[in-house]
Amino acid sequence: MLNYILIAHLLGATIWTGGHLILALVILPKALASRNVEVLLQFEEPFEKIGMPALGIQIITGLWMAYQLLPNISMWFTLDNDLSVLISLKLLLLLLTFLVALHARFYMIPKLSADTLKAFSVNITLVTSFSVAFVIVGTLFRTGFG
Ligand code: HEM
Repeated sequence: MLNYILIAHLLGATIWTGGHLILALVILPKALASRNVEVLLQFEEPFEKIGMPALGIQIITGLWMAYQLLPNISMWFTLDNDLSVLISLKLLLLLLTFLVALHARFYMIPKLSADTLKAFSVNITLVTSFSVAFVIVGTLFRTGFG
């Protein structure tokens, strides 16, 4: 069972992190160079359809695996062992991702224009950096910090 959950978690990671890397490294520079927000929206709208379910799968499978590793949820936040630190880091990244996404959705996107594109690129860079951090923290569950 754990193997299927891990496969789902890794597939979700390829979509979420891979999609954001394409957005940040390929689409965003194009949009900034041409000052054209349409380039961004044309990528974001279809990506959201697969990206949001992928993030949902990450959360469900991630919480499931965390529960298998540490079945006592209050131990997730004691920060006195590697597993607790890593689970807390994943949940902190999730919180930061939500905060930046909410800011983008309700504050930046409604007034997105060539003039606000630069400010919006900070949002994209942040969510992409968090998505890469999710993967790096994920690999540490196996290797530990040492
Ligand atoms: C977009 C979000 C996420 C991405 C991209 C991501 C990515 C990854 C990756 C690449 C691994 C490495 C798997 C391996 O070493 O074989 C991993 C492991 C793990 N992730 Fe995530 N993750 C995300 C969200 C979460 C969340 C929200 C949790 C909840 C606490 C979580 C919990 C875990 C756990 C417990 C493992 C260790 C699995 C194991 O090695 O047995 N992840 N993650």
